[in-house]
Amino acid sequence: MACRETDRLPSGDLLAVTLVSPHGPDKELLTLLVAKEELSAERSRASRLPAVRMTSRETSDLIMLGIGAFTPLRGFMDSADWRTVCDQMTLADGTFWPIPITVSASEDEAGSISDGEDIALLDGDTGELMGVMTVEQRYRIDKEHEALEVFRTKDPAHPGVAKVLAQEDINLAGPVRVLSEAGFPELYGSLYIRPAETRKLFSESGWTTVAAFQTRNPMHRAHEYLAKVAIEICDGLLIHQLLGRLKEGDVPAQVRVRAVDALVSNYMVPGTCIQAGYPMEMRYAGPREALLHAIFRQNYGCSHLIVGRDHAGVGSYYGPLDAQLIFDEIPPDALELRPLKFGPTFYCEICDAMATERTCPHGKDHHLSISGTEVRRMLANGEEVPNHFSRPEVLAVLAEHYRDRDALSNAARQ
Ligand code: ADX
Repeated sequence: MACRETDRLPSGDLLAVTLVSPHGPDKELLTLLVAKEELSAERSRASRLPAVRMTSRETSDLIMLGIGAFTPLRGFMDSADWRTVCDQMTLADGTFWPIPITVSASEDEAGSISDGEDIALLDGDTGELMGVMTVEQRYRIDKEHEALEVFRTKDPAHPGVAKVLAQEDINLAGPVRVLSEAGFPELYGSLYIRPAETRKLFSESGWTTVAAFQTRNPMHRAHEYLAKVAIEICDGLLIHQLLGRLKEGDVPAQVRVRAVDALVSNYMVPGTCIQAGYPMEMRYAGPREALLHAIFRQNYGCSHLIVGRDHAGVGSYYGPLDAQLIFDEIPPDALELRPLKFGPTFYCEICDAMATERTCPHGKDHHLSISGTEVRRMLANGEEVPNHFSRPEVLAVLAEHYRDRDALSNAARQ
């Protein structure tokens, strides 16, 4: 799903260009997917192990571990890492890390496992065997502490906090071997690109500086503005969509992919950007999630991450620029990747252009502020969406989605 002109790719002699290093002391991508030739033996061994069912967040984190997106983690965190990640945003060995990556089990399940024993990790929704973990530690956490440190709130109405509060009571820690990517490669085809593969694509394109554009929304005009400014600064852009689970009301990934394609093919210069997706689930942790986004984009080979208004936020839990400010609070050597910070972007009727407070001298009365939530609301209510909000080609894809959705729910009611 790349918007690159493959026939113009430079040949292999440019493969030596240098991208940012993967995160962590070893500066090497750490993939934990079991090799194809070992899969069937490992699967049959795993079928005889005690099994723990994971939540959808845990499953999505396991896949991120498998593909190397969470380098340098070798598995789910132990209590020392959990504590330092919550309290000081580092692993116990001092490596920068902002959000606990943990898996939980009920007291009964945890009680029946011995330290050092291998267990099978199953997807809780489908029952699919996803991986094997050697359990090195079982520990209890203070969930409210995690919520307050990571999400800055313990409000159970926050969708990310709700998942922490609802997870089982005992965390299991240990290295993992990942046996499945839960159908993502089959479902998304060439859009599902792993970190080693994006690195290869960037190198083949001759890019050393690559900006990642994180998104969970169909791209509107403010998104397009951020993306294009980033292309002015960097060699290329990775439009990196979340493919994992979202909250109710967000637009499903398949529809977003088509909407982004409509934008890219009509409004972007071929060869300047690559559209891809990653399998993680949204936590909506605002500032801390922006830092996690930065780590795994560095692993994908990106030198920059676009951080705009209320990045990875939800409701009004975070200030509009909190996710940018947190990058000033971490040690300068915590990451190689750098944030590309953008203030709230709007359409100004006097400039007749997209702008921010840094580029537009006119007052708020002339500004039309643009958000994915507002575009979704208008479409869901069948309202006309102004051109300044979103490109007509993108709107056509979204309008079709809302029409189909309404037709389905009407049919269900009859
Ligand atoms: S997010 O949860 O993935 O951050 P979204 O897909 O809406 O949500 O945003 C993608 C990126 O665009 C984020 O960096 C976000 O901060 C930024 N962004 C979205 N809308 C605006 C806007 N109107 N002005 C500035 N930045 C924006």
